[in-house]
Amino acid sequence: MTPYGIDPVAWQESWDRQQEGYLPDREERFAALLDTVEAVADGPGVTILDLAGGTGSISLRALRRFPYATTTLVDVDPVLLTIARESLDQRSTVVTADLRDPDWTAGLPRHDYDAVLTATALHWIAPERLTALYAEIRQVLRPGGVFVNVDRVPDDGLSGLGARLGDVARRRRESRHAAGAVLSWDAWWDHVAKDPVLGLLLEQRRQVFAERHETEWNPPLSWHLDTLRTAGYTETGLVWRGGRDAAVAAVR
Ligand SMILES: C[S@@+](CC[C@H](N)C(=O)[O-])C[C@H]1O[C@@H](n2cnc3c(N)ncnc32)[C@H](O)[C@@H]1O
Repeated sequence: MTPYGIDPVAWQESWDRQQEGYLPDREERFAALLDTVEAVADGPGVTILDLAGGTGSISLRALRRFPYATTTLVDVDPVLLTIARESLDQRSTVVTADLRDPDWTAGLPRHDYDAVLTATALHWIAPERLTALYAEIRQVLRPGGVFVNVDRVPDDGLSGLGARLGDVARRRRESRHAAGAVLSWDAWWDHVAKDPVLGLLLEQRRQVFAERHETEWNPPLSWHLDTLRTAGYTETGLVWRGGRDAAVAAVR
């Protein structure tokens, strides 16, 4: 328990179990992200920007694997940011910024990261904004640094089979939720509402996301590769795929 009254270890555990209900291969994704970081690192003090980092899942894993690393976590959700701040140590800087705002880089402590990593997050960003964001991310990487985005990335060639694979994943997820094996997204937020500290932040959270568009946007792989190349990245491609999800990587 911290002076703020939340137990960050318990909240990390509960967030991880909830997310694994949707992404059973979640640790495999994180390992692929960190392998990519190791591939471009030129020393132990690697610098990582954890974009839309939520509770700090990527930062915590990166710091376990690279103890001399430093991370910057950017997010806009007051609940998840509170858990992140209570979980991370002095090797991490936590920045409140909205990726929908073109000025989101203003509060970053540096603009020459070895790696920018993001997981399961950018599907809430509208198409024109995501195009601009990909270029802005390049501006905060050092030459040779890498950006990796792991999310739903449909394969252009598998429109029918891809949708059916999605049905398989959905049925598996619904069974796990129905059996009480893991918490659903809504059930997790019900637990937050009951917490005497985090529950107080829910109204602020509602306001932050009030303007968010209703549906996710998951463009196919070709969109990501074209957009990244147009933004000036020198290499683009996949470093991981699992079903309809993939980790798209781009080198500055
Ligand atoms: C499903 S969570 C993933 C968090 C973390 N990467 C993980 O895998 O545990 C998606 C994250 O994106 C963040 N996010 C969504 N829209 C955002 C925005 N406009 N600006 C900053 N963060 C945003 C949410 O607050 C949330 O933390």
